[in-house]
Amino acid sequence: MLSGRGSNFVAIAESIREGRLKGAEIAVVISNVAEAEGLAKARELGLPAEIFVSKGRPRAVHDADVIACLRTHGVELVCLAGYMRLLSPEFIAAFPNRILNIHPSLLPAFPGLDAQRQAFDFGVKVAGCTVHFVDEHLDHGVIVLQRAISVLETGDAHSLARRILAEEHIAYSEAIARVVSGDYEIRGRRFVKRDE
Ligand code: GRF
Repeated sequence: MLSGRGSNFVAIAESIREGRLKGAEIAVVISNVAEAEGLAKARELGLPAEIFVSKGRPRAVHDADVIACLRTHGVELVCLAGYMRLLSPEFIAAFPNRILNIHPSLLPAFPGLDAQRQAFDFGVKVAGCTVHFVDEHLDHGVIVLQRAISVLETGDAHSLARRILAEEHIAYSEAIARVVSGDYEIRGRRFVKRDE
């Protein structure tokens, strides 16, 4: 599910095409923004793509339409990739521990918007991205994986965001592979490989 550029979605689609994400296929791409670049890319790739414009509609009503669409397409794992809208509690309850999100910071630092700039302005020396399950709090659920990079003294917030994005494109597919494998347990807040 996306609202904009869709580069994480494209990276996931490439991983699948190149056979790096065994057992996964993209059942449908959903956008809440009709002009989203990612939606056009989904169509170019020949994937089912649906628009549910959210603007001006109550969250629960919009989400009910999206949930119905996900069910119609047999979706088992929902991946938010730049989907700029909070999910209703009903949505989260409909897919318990089956919704992933990617966030461009090392959570729990810098949740919310413009995380890369927040991190840069704070002066952190290490930054990165997080793939996590979605729960009822913003950028908060169980962490599946993180990738970290050093913040360069020569860079600015834009170059940091670009470098983090490159890590995101690796991280999301890796996280999906781990979840799809089913070989994990959630202990408290910890996502751990299942004991033999
Ligand atoms: C990414 O930085 C992601 O971490 C954040 O939104 C951005 C989406 O970028 N949640 P894209 O649409 O995947 O290119």
